[in-house]
This record gives sequence, structure tokens and C-alpha cells, in this order.
Amino acid sequence: MEYYTLPKTDLKVSKIALGCMRIAGKSADEVEALIDKALELGINFFDHADIYGGGQSERIYGEVLKRRPDLRDKMIIQTKCAIVPGKRYDFSKEYIINAVNGSLERLNTDHVEILLLHRPDALCEPEEVAEAFNQLYEEGKVKYFGVSNHTPYQIQLLQKYVKYPIIINQLQLSIVHSVMIDSGMNMNMKEAWAQDKDGGVLDFCRLNDITIQPWSSIQASWAEGTFIDNPSYAKLNEVLQTLADQYGVTKATIAIAWLLRHPAHMQPIIGTTSPVHLAEMAEAVNVKLTRQEWYDLYLASEKPLP
Ligand SMILES: NC(=O)c1ccc[n+]([C@@H]2O[C@H](COP(=O)([O-])OP(=O)(O)OC[C@H]3O[C@@H](n4cnc5c(N)ncnc54)[C@H](OP(=O)(O)O)[C@@H]3O)[C@@H](O)[C@H]2O)c1
Repeated sequence: MEYYTLPKTDLKVSKIALGCMRIAGKSADEVEALIDKALELGINFFDHADIYGGGQSERIYGEVLKRRPDLRDKMIIQTKCAIVPGKRYDFSKEYIINAVNGSLERLNTDHVEILLLHRPDALCEPEEVAEAFNQLYEEGKVKYFGVSNHTPYQIQLLQKYVKYPIIINQLQLSIVHSVMIDSGMNMNMKEAWAQDKDGGVLDFCRLNDITIQPWSSIQASWAEGTFIDNPSYAKLNEVLQTLADQYGVTKATIAIAWLLRHPAHMQPIIGTTSPVHLAEMAEAVNVKLTRQEWYDLYLASEKPLP
């Protein structure tokens, strides 16, 4: 595994993180085996959210930490809050603080290293967010703060009031879902690909040392599932297979290597629940795609370039 220090922090993190959204249906034994595998591979970063599995993902992970308290010091735990299932979003001070307290209880820990605001709240009052963050930091419950699915202006607005740096923006990104990359390369063109749908979030994050954490790195969409071996993405799978054979890895490994090849120093959040798939994808840090291979994959997902 390779590591880097997250900008504006003292956290030395693995280049690949394990996302825990899908562990809710697993047994504690299965989750323990997955965590052990991750740590064995050198993955020290674990992504959660209060809503994953209705709280069950954090609960089952916390059960493992209860059994194995020695593991806690070996991991960096990130969780998210502020999506309210069935209602929507809530950035109020009371909601954020209660959500974090709930996560800590389920995770069986007294702190998380990072807290993200999961999705923008139209009714966000940044002064209140700042108060919530101050309290959580001062109580020792959260060390660093970030966001997910936020535009540059939304981040700037928060940052005007929050005294701690916003260090993360977790965003959907894969070879087939690359909206934030597409518009930049189709600048000033008339086609739909040129539409800036995110306010230039990729360059903004790079300019401000905010780490992008790609999510759903091998998903085509929620409805379609993964693009790996998906007949709707035949051309892409062909190129993935050619490169997989060339590098002696799997197609999923190449899909993650495509994200790591981007110079923004992104940290992909891998959502597998399988120790075998996790080991395959961790191999991506050892695959350095050439510039041409990166573009071959981009074009194989049927996106035009001017
Ligand atoms: N911030 C946000 O709004 C947001 C939204 C969604 C997710 N996330 C985070 O991002 C993480 C990853 O998201 P995700 O789970 O959608 O992403 P993902 O890593 O693209 O997808 C994981 C899914 O792909 C399957 N898979 C993995 N390797 C495979 C392979 N080699 N062949 C076929 N299928 C394979 C997995 O099945 P197996 O378990 O069998 O491997 C699992 O069902 C989540 O855990 C969560 O932490 C954040």
C-alpha cells in the first residue's frame, strides 16, 4: 500500500479507503474478516455514514471494535451526517451534534478522525454549522471536518464561518461517471458534455488542497450496478480487459488505477464487502497507467472529446 498525509492534517492515510455502506447485511464475523483483510493490505481508512443500513453498518463495525479494541488505534474512521431519510437534509447544530453522538455510540468509539456533511442542505446556516463543529472539536469527538457532494461556492460559504479547514469533498466519480472531468475538457463547446454541472469542483478542490474521495468507483449507476462485465459497457470492458491482461490484474483494479492516475491525489473509497475483491482493488496502487491508457479508458466509455 502507498500512503500520503492528507493536506492540512497530521493523518497519514492509505491511498485507498474502505467504504462501509454495504456491510450492513453482513455478520460481525464477516465484517471482522473484512477489516482484518483491509488492515493486512495496509488500508487504514474506513468510511461510514449514520444512515448506512439505517445505522446497522456503524453498529456492526462497532461490534467488531468491541471484540477487538486493539484495532481502533490502527484505523482512521470517517463518518457523515445530515441526510435525514424520508425528510431530507439537516445542517442545524442540534441535528449535527445528535447525529455524531449516535454514530460514536454505534461505532463504539469516543471520537472519529473526520466528519463529513453528507449532502448540501438548502437551509444551511453556516454560523450554526460552525457552532456544531466547534463543540464537537472541543469535546474531542471530531478531529477534522469535510463535506460530500458540495459545490465550490457551498464550500466557500461554509469556510467563511467554520474555523477549521474543510479537508475532504467526497464525490461520485468513475470512468463512466466523470461529470467533473468532462466539462473541463469540453470547455466552450455547444454539446451537453460541456455543461458545467458542478461549478468547477475538481479544479477548486485542487487549488484549495481539498482531497477528493471518489465514491461508486466501479458503478455505472444505482440502477445498473457495476460497469464491470456489464454488456452495456462492452467497449469499455474490452479496453479494461486488455489493460488487465497487460498488467496482470483484474478489470476492477484498472478502474481504480484510472482514478489514482489523475494528478489530483484522490483517495478512492472502495465499497466492496469481499476480502477477495478488496485485495484485487488494493493492487491498483501498483499500476501506473500511461497518459494514453488513461485517455483510452476515458474514450472507451463513449465520451466525446473536441
Ligand atoms: N458520499 C456519498 O454520497 C456516497 C454515496 C455512495 C457511497 N459512498 C461511499 O462510497 C463507498 C463506495 O460506494 P459503492 O459501494 O457504491 O462503490 P463501488 O466500490 O463502486 O461498488 C461496490 C459494489 O461493487 C461490487 N464489486 C466490487 N468489486 C467487484 C468486482 N471485481 N466485480 C464485480 N462487482 C464488484 C461490490 O460487491 P462485493 O461486495 O461482492 O465485492 C459492491 O456491491 C461506500 O461504501 C460509501 O462509503 C458515498
